[in-house]
Amino acid sequence: MASPTDYLLALDQGTSSSRSIVFDRSGRIVAMAQRELPQIYPQPGWVEHDPMEIWRGQLATARDALAKAGLKASDVRAIGITNQRETTVLWNRRTGQPVHHAIVWQDRRAEPLCAELRAQGMQAEIQRKTGLVIDAYFSATKLRWLLDEVPGLRAQAEAGELAFGTVDSWLIWQLTGGRVHATDVTNASRTMLFDVHRNAWDDELLAALDIPAALLPHVQPSSSLFGETDPALLGAALPIGGVAGDQQAALFGQACFDAGMAKNTYGTGCFLLMHTGERFQPSSNGLVVTSAAQLAPPFTGPGNARRGIQVQNGLTGAAPQYAMEGSVFVGGAVVQWLRDGLQAIKGSAEVQALAESVPDAGGVMMVPAFTGLGAPYWNADARGTITGLTRGTTVAHIARAALESIAYQSAALLSAMSRDVEAAGGASVAELRVDGGACVNDLLMQFQADLLGIPVVRPAVVETTALGAAFLAGLSSGVYAGTDELSALWKAERRFLPTLSRTQAEAAMARWEHAVRQATVA
Ligand code: G3P
Repeated sequence: MASPTDYLLALDQGTSSSRSIVFDRSGRIVAMAQRELPQIYPQPGWVEHDPMEIWRGQLATARDALAKAGLKASDVRAIGITNQRETTVLWNRRTGQPVHHAIVWQDRRAEPLCAELRAQGMQAEIQRKTGLVIDAYFSATKLRWLLDEVPGLRAQAEAGELAFGTVDSWLIWQLTGGRVHATDVTNASRTMLFDVHRNAWDDELLAALDIPAALLPHVQPSSSLFGETDPALLGAALPIGGVAGDQQAALFGQACFDAGMAKNTYGTGCFLLMHTGERFQPSSNGLVVTSAAQLAPPFTGPGNARRGIQVQNGLTGAAPQYAMEGSVFVGGAVVQWLRDGLQAIKGSAEVQALAESVPDAGGVMMVPAFTGLGAPYWNADARGTITGLTRGTTVAHIARAALESIAYQSAALLSAMSRDVEAAGGASVAELRVDGGACVNDLLMQFQADLLGIPVVRPAVVETTALGAAFLAGLSSGVYAGTDELSALWKAERRFLPTLSRTQAEAAMARWEHAVRQATVA
């Protein structure tokens, strides 16, 4: 029986929904609540969220989760926040009201600004300092767009009246009743304004992008005290003890704390992250380097007498930690296409049975380059192809090829990452830990292990993003003594071991690469 003060509340604010999960100290889910988040599409290529809907929905799920768990807020030791990254919120410091809808990470409106930065020859400096490639995905050019395009905002920003934040900052601001404007290193590392070596905002990049420093949040280690919640919101003042962007939180929740440990999240797309420890490893394959979660010492000692918490300012005690990151644009989305585009299945859950009704894909190869191909191919003009069709091909073969395409793309990504890391003498990956909706598909996981030639490991708790945020909060609030304790808590539900010989796997990857070339022929 857990002690009443050992519960941790994770707020997981994602692109399509806001969720809150109560964990006990063993990492077991006690209760969960979820609300959908409406998407706003003002014009093609633009994606927005209403920040007040984000906040209200998130708060409602936190209250619901506590009620379902039968807990009072005072039973919870600390809150952890994890969030959709890069999404850019700008609000008025006095009123706490947003001055525009949030510009979501998927939004492409800032591409012309990115083209200007590339033309100015900024790529090398940006990659050296931030680990990123210049892209409208990251927050910097979204923020610049707001200051340039929305009348009055630049003057207000320069007068110090506005606050910028990614979604974590916005939630921290609201949760603390406007007392704290902060973010963590993982979220800061997705802005394209943050020097990941010095763990600090970069004045030269701010000047180059014409962004006033007065807008920016204070940056802290991911596991550190960010502030206490306004007691009126949840019924007690709760410390916010952990914050991380969702992909880095998932890496942490998978107990990937050391160089060479990697996780892949199988969602609409796939996000693959490999921890590289204290090594900043630039890629020659178009992958990005990002800050992994960083820890400050626990908040013990003098300070908040009730909880033994000491307010932590700055980054003292947190060593920079890095990960390489790459993403597959169309992962689980290929199953949605089978359902909605091809109408081959009625629901996503049917795909495994249909794919398993044939022994293999019968030579069919699908490259779901619906929106071009990302790392390691980087071909925006590539389009989806299905090759190897014969008179005997059935829809089952196509379904199987669709599932396999998720594994092929992830394998190509991991192999590019491994090449980068191994070329620099870093540790190679011994197993791939998996999470996200499609990781329940055994056929896909087995095929992934076959291609990679290493075990693919599915954890007992697949809510690893929220678990990572809870772990971060639990470390800083003293529920856990250290990461060794977390590694011991992390449990595998199933290990998928490779069954193909390396020769067979390499031949399969060669067929995939051949199909990719066909998809990229103009
Ligand atoms: O970088 C974007 C990523 O953080 C979004 O994740 O799970 O909200 O789609 P998700």
